[in-house]
Amino acid sequence: MFSADILPYIQIYMENKNSFTSKLGFVLAAAGSAVGLGNLWRFPYLAAKYGGGMFLLIYLIIAVTFGFTLMLTETAIGRKTGKSALGAFTALNKKWSFAGYIASAVPCIIFPYYCVIGGWVVKYLIAFCSGQGKAAAGDSYFGSFISQTGEPILWLCVFLFLTSAVVMMGVQKGIEKASKILMPVLVVLSVIIAIYSVTRKGAAAGVIYYLKPDFSKFSINLVFAALGQLFYSMSLAMGIMITYGSYMDKKSDLESSVRQIEIFDTGIAFISGLIIIPAVFAFSGGDESVLSSGPSLMFITLPKVFESMPMGSVMGAVFFILVLFAALTSAISLMETVVSFVEEKTSLKRPVICLIVAGASLLLAIPSSLGFGIWDSVKLLGNSILDFFDFISNNVMMPIVAFLTCIFAGYVIKTDAIASEVEASAPFKSRKLYNVTIKYIAPVFILIIFVSSVLKGLGIINF
Ligand code: PHE
Repeated sequence: MFSADILPYIQIYMENKNSFTSKLGFVLAAAGSAVGLGNLWRFPYLAAKYGGGMFLLIYLIIAVTFGFTLMLTETAIGRKTGKSALGAFTALNKKWSFAGYIASAVPCIIFPYYCVIGGWVVKYLIAFCSGQGKAAAGDSYFGSFISQTGEPILWLCVFLFLTSAVVMMGVQKGIEKASKILMPVLVVLSVIIAIYSVTRKGAAAGVIYYLKPDFSKFSINLVFAALGQLFYSMSLAMGIMITYGSYMDKKSDLESSVRQIEIFDTGIAFISGLIIIPAVFAFSGGDESVLSSGPSLMFITLPKVFESMPMGSVMGAVFFILVLFAALTSAISLMETVVSFVEEKTSLKRPVICLIVAGASLLLAIPSSLGFGIWDSVKLLGNSILDFFDFISNNVMMPIVAFLTCIFAGYVIKTDAIASEVEASAPFKSRKLYNVTIKYIAPVFILIIFVSSVLKGLGIINF
């Protein structure tokens, strides 16, 4: 269904860095950043771990309320000021530049570990292309791969190199155009694989687990996980949507663009869950330990699905190419944010900055990778190194930025400022809902979640 929506947009591309040629150009570019490993890898494993249908329900509720409100706020702030996060907060209120700094620090933390996972995707792609699909479907393949020292780092370097090369050359010409073709292909292919997955023997129990909320599974942890996932998946609370909003022209309908990005992003996450969770039931009977296996889920379950399919190796190779592509477009937006931040603050040339950012990210990424092997005894707040970075960015820094954004929009520049920006293009349909959410519901809720999540992370409370 999304493919039909999106296909006509393929011709539309960004004219230059500072403006999108149309609303659709903006929607697609923002969707390219939003749709990535968060949708294909992170969402399904969280949904599997946190009770399937209940997680899905909570996620959908916060996506249409909080997700919408925050994304609208960020894009409106960006378009109003025409600046990236740092400049935008400062331009609207000098005292608030600290919020821009915190937001800009988030991609610096996410980018390195994102490259580690990106490296795993490259490895699986190569495995499928070189006829090792069967081996990849073996139970211990993934575990023995990530626990090695050299190989995961090698693939991480490949992923980092690809990302840096594109950022160095400029994003628009190559990757943006290609992503407008490949994204719809990703949707079509995901739908085909999802249909295959849900029709396997034993998969029906998985479909029920995924779609039917079991209220006994509700927990505060589930809400934390859903909120963290929302920020991550929609690229919120880290200045990215502010930057994208600054490239948007005044005539484009902001509200409906935000809705479309939201639907696209959530739709892909939903389909990925429909691929992976029923497959877990079909191949391992919905075993609790497999369901809660976390980050490895996509890399263990999907190869088994491909292995059992006719032409499985080809399907596997095509699928991992597309996952790689989705991951690259997101990684590029992450790296671009870091690079443009350094560009604004120093007088260094872009290629030099790219090299410095890539080198520093590699140094930060290596420990995350080794944390699954020779450094697996290193635990930070009870987490592996990669999970620790994930926790700090998603559960600590992003809620802080989201909270500050709500206070900023609701009380400092006030909702009328946001509304007038939205209304510059079209009537603001959800204005009442927006005002109540941004001023009262979202900040209170985010604060509660944040405080309890930090207390829990520090081991002070346990539930
Ligand atoms: N939203 C991307 C995803 O779902 C990840 C990402 C996070 C991209 C932050 C850019 C910035 O994978």
